[in-house]
Amino acid sequence: MSEHEENNAPANDKPEYRRGIKSFVIRAGRLTKGQEGALERQWPVMGLELQQGPINPVTVFGRDSHVVLEIGYGMGQSLVKMAEAAPEKDFIGVEVHLPGVGSLLNLAEDAGVTNLRTYKEDAIEVLKLIPDNSIDTVQLFFPDPWHKKKHHKRRIVQGEFAQTLRRILKPGGVFHMATDWENYAEHMMEVMEVQDGYENVAGKNEYMPRPEHRPLTKFENRGKLRGHGVWDLMFRKV
Ligand SMILES: C[S@@+](CC[C@H](N)C(=O)[O-])C[C@H]1O[C@@H](n2cnc3c(N)ncnc32)[C@H](O)[C@@H]1O
Repeated sequence: MSEHEENNAPANDKPEYRRGIKSFVIRAGRLTKGQEGALERQWPVMGLELQQGPINPVTVFGRDSHVVLEIGYGMGQSLVKMAEAAPEKDFIGVEVHLPGVGSLLNLAEDAGVTNLRTYKEDAIEVLKLIPDNSIDTVQLFFPDPWHKKKHHKRRIVQGEFAQTLRRILKPGGVFHMATDWENYAEHMMEVMEVQDGYENVAGKNEYMPRPEHRPLTKFENRGKLRGHGVWDLMFRKV
């Protein structure tokens, strides 16, 4: 998300607005022909809908495998690369930005991956449909940082979110976060270190070195070129 969009986001501190707080703003954005075509061809194959109700990954993929859930995959480059590199695992993506979903499907089609499904919905709604103890890894890479203090409540990493993820993670499953915004990294650490039922894989208050299996996205590359740092955090369900 651009800073411009964030600055224009509504900031309403009235308590009645807190309940429906969103971690995103829907961005206008036209679909490219490629994204539109991929949505038409691949949505019936790879799309998951809220109306389907609760899902069981074993049924969705027709096998009992290591399941990765990625929240907010953007244009999907990194998720498709991961799915391609690990055909023995299964991947579920969640993204609200329609051009991003089209882009993911386009890339997935080109790569010929079959171990990937996606929702085009708010992750908060999707998480309600994921069974307890069913996911091995939850990935949250470069979530919208909501830089301004008055917008911090829109950050998706909060205690309640962490506990929802704990519910869907298998015992020993990992919640993996990455961000290039130091203040958000510190916020993630503060929230996660006090959560019951998690341990920091790197050790108390420590960050992880960037794991090899997390491909660099365009977004991250751009940040690196501008001299930004990147922080990886991994918390295991205990
Ligand atoms: C800053 S972008 C990062 C995208 C990608 N992970 C990357 O590293 O390039 C954050 C993405 O999260 C998505 N997002 C934010 N909140 C979401 C939510 N509650 N459910 C699904 N997607 C969400 C946004 O639409 C956006 O595409």
